[in-house]
Amino acid sequence: MDNIDFIPVHIPVLSREILTFFGELSDAGNLQFLDGTAGEGGHSEMILNAFPGSKVVLFDRDDEMIERSKKRLEKFSERVLFENRNFSEIDSGLLRESRLPETFDGILLDLGISTYHLTGSERGFSFKRDEVLDMRLDSSSNLTALEIIKRYNTENLHRIFREYGEENWAKKIAERLVDSRKKNPIRTTGELAKFVESVIPRKFWPPKTHPAIRVFQALRIEVNQELVHIEKGISKLAGLLNENGILCIISFHSLEDRIVKNQMKDLVKGGGFVLLTKKPVIPGDEEISQNGASRSAKLRAIQRKE
Ligand SMILES: C[S@@+](CC[C@H](N)C(=O)[O-])C[C@H]1O[C@@H](n2cnc3c(N)ncnc32)[C@H](O)[C@@H]1O
Repeated sequence: MDNIDFIPVHIPVLSREILTFFGELSDAGNLQFLDGTAGEGGHSEMILNAFPGSKVVLFDRDDEMIERSKKRLEKFSERVLFENRNFSEIDSGLLRESRLPETFDGILLDLGISTYHLTGSERGFSFKRDEVLDMRLDSSSNLTALEIIKRYNTENLHRIFREYGEENWAKKIAERLVDSRKKNPIRTTGELAKFVESVIPRKFWPPKTHPAIRVFQALRIEVNQELVHIEKGISKLAGLLNENGILCIISFHSLEDRIVKNQMKDLVKGGGFVLLTKKPVIPGDEEISQNGASRSAKLRAIQRKE
């Protein structure tokens, strides 16, 4: 088991760019922010430091991340509030019931999972470790990656590996999995990684990463219904912006980015919002060299005008 001291820190991505957008907000000294994906609280810490009069309400669907960000932001206790919720559930009714602010000048979503999920959570997010196949962000949900591997039929496994993993070998992997699981059930991430290695011929392995990376992505998205929540959350969150308020969203793969791009486009078309990013903002070479995890990040933003 990892000692917590050795868990690599999660470095917030595109921080400077986020601050540039939020810097556009007229600073009346008391800006109100919503961070829908608290994680380790890195982006929120940056906002709290950059805007000394501001307050931030942080949400995360993972209660462990709420505890971790709370600890990190202890010194800002007067200016932060935390809520263990899925960002797709946030609307004025929930905010009112929870006695939280109901409108915001800046809203941030930094999608996906945190470094801690991969390296310290022991929930089976990484093919680099041998852990139980769980992958749940929200511990109250019943669906785990193990359940999917054990119970989904060939058709559904094929669908998720193809749609959520964009895996060329989706059909073969699904068929072989169902064929072999009675005799040789897969129980851990290590076993799953080895199984995928055995199905994809070596000459088709991706050059720089593990051949199971797409299958792991697909399982994580299915377990957490990640795309469904993004789809549901964006317009609700945009509706909580004050006039001139800005919504920034960072995505990490094309499936997420497509939803963000289309939803922002629809909001602008519907009136009352302007697009601040004709093209997504991406990290520069310097950021990528300092934080490899930022490589695929894309930031899109809209501003409320009415
Ligand atoms: C990339 S991390 C955020 C890191 C954070 N910005 C920081 O600087 O430390 C993404 C976080 O979003 C959370 N998350 C993912 N989907 C969510 C959802 N639908 N609702 C709420 N939290 C979610 C994950 O549990 C994870 O902690």
